[in-house]
Amino acid sequence: MIPKTFVQELLGRIDIVDIVETSLPLKRAGTNLVACCPFHNEKTPSFTVSPTKQFYHCFGCGAHGSAIGFLMEYNGMGYVEAVKDLAGRAGMKVPEFTPSPQEAAKQVQSEELTELLQRAAQFYKSELKRSERAIAYLKGRGLTGDIAARFQLGFAPDGWQNLTAAFENYQAKALIDAGLVVGEEGKRYDRFRDRIMFPIINPRGQVVGFGGRVLDQSEPKYLNSPETPVFEKGRELYGLFHARQAIRDAGRIVVVEGYMDVVALAQYGIGYAVATLGTATTAWHVQKLLRQADEVVFCFDGDAAGRRAAWRALENSLSQLQDGKQVKFLLLPERDDPDSFIRREGKESFERLLAEAAIPLTGFALKELTERTDMGNAEGRAKFLQDARPLVKQVSAPILGLMLRKRIAELGGISQTELEDRFEFKVGRRVPAVPRGSPRRAPDHYTNLLERVLAEPSLVKVLWPLALPAPQAVSTEASALSDLIEQSRGLDQELTVAGAIELLRGRGHGATVQRLMPVVHDLQRMTAAELLVEIQGAVEALQLQEAKSRATEAAEGVASPRDLSQEDRALLRRAPVGETAVKPH
Ligand code: CTP
Ligand code: MN
Repeated sequence: MIPKTFVQELLGRIDIVDIVETSLPLKRAGTNLVACCPFHNEKTPSFTVSPTKQFYHCFGCGAHGSAIGFLMEYNGMGYVEAVKDLAGRAGMKVPEFTPSPQEAAKQVQSEELTELLQRAAQFYKSELKRSERAIAYLKGRGLTGDIAARFQLGFAPDGWQNLTAAFENYQAKALIDAGLVVGEEGKRYDRFRDRIMFPIINPRGQVVGFGGRVLDQSEPKYLNSPETPVFEKGRELYGLFHARQAIRDAGRIVVVEGYMDVVALAQYGIGYAVATLGTATTAWHVQKLLRQADEVVFCFDGDAAGRRAAWRALENSLSQLQDGKQVKFLLLPERDDPDSFIRREGKESFERLLAEAAIPLTGFALKELTERTDMGNAEGRAKFLQDARPLVKQVSAPILGLMLRKRIAELGGISQTELEDRFEFKVGRRVPAVPRGSPRRAPDHYTNLLERVLAEPSLVKVLWPLALPAPQAVSTEASALSDLIEQSRGLDQELTVAGAIELLRGRGHGATVQRLMPVVHDLQRMTAAELLVEIQGAVEALQLQEAKSRATEAAEGVASPRDLSQEDRALLRRAPVGETAVKPH
């Protein structure tokens, strides 16, 4: 962990203006400097850099941060990398830092795995050059050598242990951990055999996994890397690394289903396509996409599977919607996918389709919902309203939400007020009045806890055994936190950020999560160990607060002093002097 004091000193010595200026042309505007925002598409500058406060902020999309944040967001650096980069510019040396043993081990492992994966990618790439059959296959699919090189495509030859040629120790467990090799000790063999290899590259340019396609009709058509410490499917998007510049230029991202779709679109001039990795689009994906472009178009096959995938993407987009941003859906004609379409029709036709046939999210939602029922009678319309309810409740974007409710009420044949009453919209989560006489509670500890758990959801385990005091005045954060604790108990896998977002979304906490996300995003720069310390601190503070409130109740005669447990007394004794308003008896 890099000492906080060092980071403070570093930020004091460098000038954010210099850092940003190497990437963006800045213009003076009063005390600040401005530019067109690099994180969303705009024509008039709303991205400001403050030389006095040393931070940047975009009034259009809300992106903000320090010089470190800028290097992370714009240049895709990791935290440590960004600090080192800045230190280099300032002529400072980053002090040796000692991560916790687990963290050090985790980092060493990640580095080792990405190195192995990179080496495998190189091996597959050189094998592609040697295989006429593989080259012919890619040519047959309309790809040039340039595009294959750009996406670092490769070929895993037929045979069981080809990777022995790439690695000195084929029996190393790390090759299993990297997902490259499978099987029992002594009987190990390559996971990928006789397949075209698509390296999956993270935003920092590291190979974190592979998708491998057969060259014929055999099954399974695609084989993917398993989830590993460096590869989480719900958090990666194929092609995003290569698409960054094209996305900035177009102000748009197209999300497709397949590796070949991304590569073929790039081949024919659409560089701003990305694909999910054989999984449904997660809320996390959508959040990440909407940060990089104002328009996200989900472009799926026109078959039943494509329609299902589109609906899942829709459900997971609702909590992430923002006024001023557009999420659209384009279902291709039956039997087409983006790859086959663009190869036959070309770039202009594809872009025309995007412009003319992509349906905005609200329109798509209403179309699907009304098609599922008979809108011609009251029963059908009641079903429509019932189906629409859980969807509408997730939309926290004020204007979009309003328009959606208006339109649903209209279609359902009721007034907007009736709908909002039925949907319990105005009341939202009913916040019970604080009982008279009970102390006013700061909800802050709950919020702090929730933000920190969201930043590192694996730490939710720490909260399982604790009896978190039930908050008297329920805040949305407190109830989200208790839902998250409850919901995560039953899982067999470790909770991930995408997983936590999904759990919370499922319990109607989408808006709360969205509100906390900027903070969570910042917190993710902290190490798990640091977050753990903060979580423990917040838990103690909460317990102390509860003990104090019981002491107050006892003092006011609401409760008997005997209600104070041993633990309460111990907690109260440990509280700093002056903290306890009421002494226990
Ligand atoms: N997929 C997968 N495993 C499979 C089939 C598909 O992981 N057995 C994923 C892959 O990411 C694939 C995507 O789903 O790229 C779309 O699958 P599909 O539509 O079947 O393939 P295409 O992308 O059209 O592949 P191709 O054009 O090469 O046939
Ligand atoms: Mn295809």
